[in-house]
Amino acid sequence: MATPKSALRRALRAAKLEQGETLYDLGSGTARALIIGEKEFGAKGIGFEIGLPIFISSRINLFLRRAKSVRVFRKSFFDADLSKADVIFMFLTPRAFVGLEDKFVSEIRPGCRVVTFSSPLKFWQPQETISLPDRQEKLYLYKA
Ligand SMILES: C[S@@+](CC[C@H](N)C(=O)[O-])C[C@H]1O[C@@H](n2cnc3c(N)ncnc32)[C@H](O)[C@@H]1O
Repeated sequence: MATPKSALRRALRAAKLEQGETLYDLGSGTARALIIGEKEFGAKGIGFEIGLPIFISSRINLFLRRAKSVRVFRKSFFDADLSKADVIFMFLTPRAFVGLEDKFVSEIRPGCRVVTFSSPLKFWQPQETISLPDRQEKLYLYKA
């Protein structure tokens, strides 16, 4: 499942992603968030994806779109260092969030914005909940 591009654009605008900042996508799928981050916001991108076929498709997409400021890694985001993120995007099931609170508290830098699509974090209160036109899912914005 991929986040609709319109929702990604809205998410990155809500997070105030700026040129030169670094966007992380935890569970980066086809890398579409990171490609939009680079092409439309001028951001660098880092993604982590455990699924092999989708990881390969993300590498192909990055090559085809010439997304030179984006790197994707085939590993769990639980094994990644999140301390360089300015904005973190996630579209994950609530189960995949388990254990993330401790990692966020110890690693992400103050001022980092976190935005989730569809599932809110259980451990933080959103600063903003954003409805999307013609969709049931919402965006949830948090600030570290
Ligand atoms: C619903 S998809 C979202 C893909 C993309 N972020 C998007 O919004 O279009 C969630 C992805 O997270 C990946 N994933 C789940 N748990 C993960 C983990 N611990 N580390 C890395 N990837 C993970 C899954 O393989 C899946 O491709």
